[in-house]
Amino acid sequence: MSLDAEKLEIVKLTAPVLKEHSTEIGKHFYELLFARVPELRNVFNQTNQKRGLQQEALVYSVYAAGENIDSLENIEQLVERIAEKHVSLGVKPEQYPIVGEALIQAVEDILGESATDEVIEAWRAAYDYIANLFIEIEQKKYHEREQQEGGWTGFREFIVTEKIQETDDVVSFCLKPKDGKPIAPHKAGQYLTIKANIEGEPFTHMRQYSLSGPSGKGFYKISVKREKGNGNVPDGIVSNYLHDRVTEGDTLEFSVPAGDFIITSEKEPIVLLSGGIGLTPVVSMLDTIAEKAPDRPVTFIHATQNSSAHAMKEHIERMVAEHSNISSFVCYESPSEEDRLSQNYDREGYVDLQWLQSILSCGNEADFYCCGPAPFMKAVDQGLKEWGVSSAKRHYELFNPVSILKEA
Ligand SMILES: Cc1cc2nc3c(=O)[nH]c(=O)nc-3n(C[C@H](O)[C@H](O)[C@H](O)COP(=O)(O)OP(=O)(O)OC[C@H]3O[C@@H](n4cnc5c(N)ncnc54)[C@H](O)[C@@H]3O)c2cc1C
Ligand code: HEM
Repeated sequence: MSLDAEKLEIVKLTAPVLKEHSTEIGKHFYELLFARVPELRNVFNQTNQKRGLQQEALVYSVYAAGENIDSLENIEQLVERIAEKHVSLGVKPEQYPIVGEALIQAVEDILGESATDEVIEAWRAAYDYIANLFIEIEQKKYHEREQQEGGWTGFREFIVTEKIQETDDVVSFCLKPKDGKPIAPHKAGQYLTIKANIEGEPFTHMRQYSLSGPSGKGFYKISVKREKGNGNVPDGIVSNYLHDRVTEGDTLEFSVPAGDFIITSEKEPIVLLSGGIGLTPVVSMLDTIAEKAPDRPVTFIHATQNSSAHAMKEHIERMVAEHSNISSFVCYESPSEEDRLSQNYDREGYVDLQWLQSILSCGNEADFYCCGPAPFMKAVDQGLKEWGVSSAKRHYELFNPVSILKEA
């Protein structure tokens, strides 16, 4: 399938206009979508909807694809990330036309007269083109995952075999398949998607949790931070459910490991940088390197509030003690009195380029894998760019929809 030259030109010319209105179009698109297909509320994150996060992400990426319609390789990474997410959620080919109709209708309604028939027709064709690309990539992924040893499609039941309190706010869950059969190994950095059926909730809730343990051991491990609300903001739905209501022996449903935040190089020194609960995918990377590449130099840098919020501290210390290729640095934003007395951290405040340059003997030649909250990622990204680390060597995972990347 291809787009004719005239439509291609219209799409490229109008993409910036549509992008400018992506927030309004996104909001209206989801209103239309949920009015037409209410059961899709079980699939889309309803908290992201309330916060307006996902609304922008999907629409924004359609326009980004429109801008690059004749050179989609420019947004290959974005396409890969979205396709992995879709596969983890079980998005089906037949849902694309439904989403497309609502999207085009939203463009027509919001742009009014400036959306001429030619513009609408061009975007309809562009959407079909992009949708076909996603469908093709996603079908291939579904097939691969089903075929792989221990793989599956859809959601599979797992028993919580162990619930470990890591800190006041972080709990880990070890998960074994209820059917007792093998489970697909994950690539370090990937996540599981949970489909949570919570009593009293009108919808099912899907959330991603990075695998925080080693691969190929016959069980999965995830570590979940409790997302607290405040007076005006409700508590996070799934994290609080997992903390308060799920106990050892309970059954949870997950799709097969997915995600494109994975180690892609083999020999270069590697720097694993995390903030807060962002440590989960990089701990799995650390465990994997320790086991599979014991000669590869790896630096583990973790930033968090202080020792009371420092999850998996003992595990990292043990890894450093047992493996000569691993070194670790800790940055506490506000150390406690006890932390100050024991000097159990390397830096107070925030991670910045000057500090990174002072501790990284490998210089900027390393591969950097980073995961943390938006302000942390913004600071790290700016610093690494300034240091001349090429984009191919900067790898990021975000626990929010991709539109956040615009700000991070
Ligand atoms: C690839 C990926 C990997 C991830 N890995 C991990 C991991 O390893 N560990 C982990 O703990 N998390 C991880 N996450 C985050 C996780 O998926 C959830 O987003 C997180 O647990 C919060 O979900 P929740 O249902 O508890 O909160 P939600 O109900 O989704 O709420 C999210 C936040 O919004 C606030 N909120 C609720 N309603 C509103 C409102 N109306 N207005 C404003 N704010 C509101 C809540 O208080 C909360 O802080 C990952 C996310 C992704 C995308
Ligand atoms: C060409 C069409 C589409 C594009 C460009 C697109 C784009 C995106 C983007 C950018 C994200 C955010 C990814 C992230 O968080 O990392 C996303 C997530 C998602 N997409 Fe799509 N998407 C498309 C079609 C669909 C279809 C057909 C469905 C089916 C119902 C779907 C369902 C979802 C869901 C459920 C999420 C997770 C977000 C949430 O739960 O709020 N998407 N998509």
